[in-house]
Amino acid sequence: MADVTLQRPQGSAEDWTIAQDWDRYTPAEHAMWDHLFERQAGMLPERVVPEFMDGLKVLRMTRPGIPHFDELSERLMKATGWQVVAVPGLVPEAVFFDHLANRRFVAGRFIRSAEQRDYLQEPDIFHDVFGHVPLLANPVFADYMQAYGKGGLRAHGFGSLTALARLYWYTVEFGLIRHGGGLRLYGAGIVSSYGESMFALDDPSPHRLGFDLERLMRTQYRIDDYQQTYFVIDSFEDLLRRTLDTDFEPLYARLRNEPELPTDTILPGDRVYTRGTQAYARGKQNV
Ligand SMILES: [Fe+2]
Repeated sequence: MADVTLQRPQGSAEDWTIAQDWDRYTPAEHAMWDHLFERQAGMLPERVVPEFMDGLKVLRMTRPGIPHFDELSERLMKATGWQVVAVPGLVPEAVFFDHLANRRFVAGRFIRSAEQRDYLQEPDIFHDVFGHVPLLANPVFADYMQAYGKGGLRAHGFGSLTALARLYWYTVEFGLIRHGGGLRLYGAGIVSSYGESMFALDDPSPHRLGFDLERLMRTQYRIDDYQQTYFVIDSFEDLLRRTLDTDFEPLYARLRNEPELPTDTILPGDRVYTRGTQAYARGKQNV
């Protein structure tokens, strides 16, 4: 997602898609994918929601090398009717929402270099495909993503994209979910990051709070470092239902009159799983 002033790059289609050009990946690029994949696949089974691991298997993403989008799309289409399409980089919000609303997930085709192994400014194919695509094989999560796209197209008209971007951020990118008496990861920004996969679950620093749509849409977020607050959903069914059952127009009207909440806020009404120490974020401020 990005602002609407982006210019469509030459060679991309009207909907901003481009060919993946899978044959152009070098052995070093495939090796980078394999390295990142093994590092995450080794530590995730006990940390991520089981539906994520199921998705890796159903989509046969456990095979070595950068996945071919046509093959991924063929398997996804059978599972949930989704496709993966390549784009040159950030795309305007309306384009992004339109793809989601039509069950197409847009992914970058480049892969990070060795120097960028642990920090990336723009999402690469490992973030987009390893992080996001496995859960698109889950029918409920797949419906949530489409509902989000449709909501985005509507929110455009209300001028409420900041609030909606926060919903994406705190669920699709950085969400936690209850599982078996504990918490598990499902957000793509976490599961594609070695450091945050540990931090988000184990570190005493961040708050972990129960999902509340209106509260979450008031909450600022960090784009430069690990999150200071994670929101925990009960289940994908619950997330989908709450999103579909909400009348967003009056919600956006209320949000316009409510103050934004800093990232480390805990409110009296919050369902608190962890009251974080915020030591990690404070330590960074003092550097
Ligand atoms: Fe992402």
